[in-house]
Amino acid sequence: MRMYDLIEKKKMGEALTTEEIYHIVNGYTHDEIPDYQMSALLMAIYFKGMDVRERYDLTMAMRDSGDILDLSSIDGVKIDKHSTGGVGDKVTLVLGPIIASIGVPVAKMSGRGLGHTGGTIDKLEAFPGFNGALSEEQFISQVNNIKIAVTGQSKNLAPADKKLYALRDVTATVDEISLITGSIMSKKLAAGTDAIVLDVTVGDGAFMKTKESALELAKSMVDIGKRANKKIAAVLTNMDEPLGFAVGNNLEVIEAINALKGNGPEDLMEVVYELGSQMIVFSEIETDKKKARALMEEAVANGKAFEKFLEFIEMQGGDASYARDINKFAPAKYVIPVEAECDGYVHALKAETFGLASMSLGGGRETFEDVIDMSVGIILNKKVGDQVKKGEAIAYVHANDEAKAKHAIEMIKSATEVSSEKCDHMKLIIDIVE
Ligand code: URA
Repeated sequence: MRMYDLIEKKKMGEALTTEEIYHIVNGYTHDEIPDYQMSALLMAIYFKGMDVRERYDLTMAMRDSGDILDLSSIDGVKIDKHSTGGVGDKVTLVLGPIIASIGVPVAKMSGRGLGHTGGTIDKLEAFPGFNGALSEEQFISQVNNIKIAVTGQSKNLAPADKKLYALRDVTATVDEISLITGSIMSKKLAAGTDAIVLDVTVGDGAFMKTKESALELAKSMVDIGKRANKKIAAVLTNMDEPLGFAVGNNLEVIEAINALKGNGPEDLMEVVYELGSQMIVFSEIETDKKKARALMEEAVANGKAFEKFLEFIEMQGGDASYARDINKFAPAKYVIPVEAECDGYVHALKAETFGLASMSLGGGRETFEDVIDMSVGIILNKKVGDQVKKGEAIAYVHANDEAKAKHAIEMIKSATEVSSEKCDHMKLIIDIVE
């Protein structure tokens, strides 16, 4: 099989066979196919796409390129949740402990933040001592013992994706549905759970900027999950403005703690309850989504969800006293308001720019080697649809450096739209694909 012929075939819009797709993925993973040929193939896929059978083969070949976790020794239906990325997205921190406290086994592999989006493992490291790199044995035994474990992705999980993603990133081939489907679903299938709930974000701060493209991606991933015999659903959620009020590591952790104690922002809780009720239904603990949601609300109200969070942080070596007393989190040196320049209603708080502003304060990383400043970030004082008076704070910048704070304030101003016309609050749940 010659790579030249396979590039030519895809360039002409023909479908690659299963054997050809495995040959390509294996060859590239083992450095037998050079970057320049793989780049050409990626660009051909970008323009010609892949049919459903090709997508399935691509996903399976990528899944099979490394280890596949065997979670069969965990009791019950094991469930994973995955977000395609967002700004202020602390959903896992809230959702995981709530449903674990109801008895749903949460075996979650999480990533680190890159670019304008944050990562759950980084946020959990706000608790001194937290171990986000569990061995497979620790991971399995913790889920069996306390129903929840969150760990970073093991090095040999879908290694084909690591190489391919790095190449896509520098060849302008990230935003193609077949390639995103293969990338996300290969990792989800290698992670070995029985059920997957996908949070497909839509809007300014998301990969998918329009409902149409997000729906296409959601359908593609759900289709592949079903072909692989998984229980799977995707919820399309709004990411035009940041989720909740907090953006930045410690600030988001504090917001998550408050949410687990019953004081969560409405939009965050809406996403948490929607995804969580789907996960509970998959777990078969409750078959009715409304009743599942009621179970979650009860777990927050009676304190069981927060207790589970403390247990989970402690079990992974983290200092849970920070969750009991949020004043222990180191604050940023400066807290500076970003003031509204006129009276009116907030029409836009563009999520991507808020994410980039937090990153420019030191709260994110451009490369995986960068060190994150945990204390910086942004607290929104207004959400889209809120009324605002001239001079009132739209948001507060938490910074450790005055020049960086100034820059972030300018970015936030450029991402904020206020107008005299009334405006509705954003609808959070856009669609569900099952
Ligand atoms: N997230 C992934 O893991 N892969 C993609 O291709 C896009 C988002």
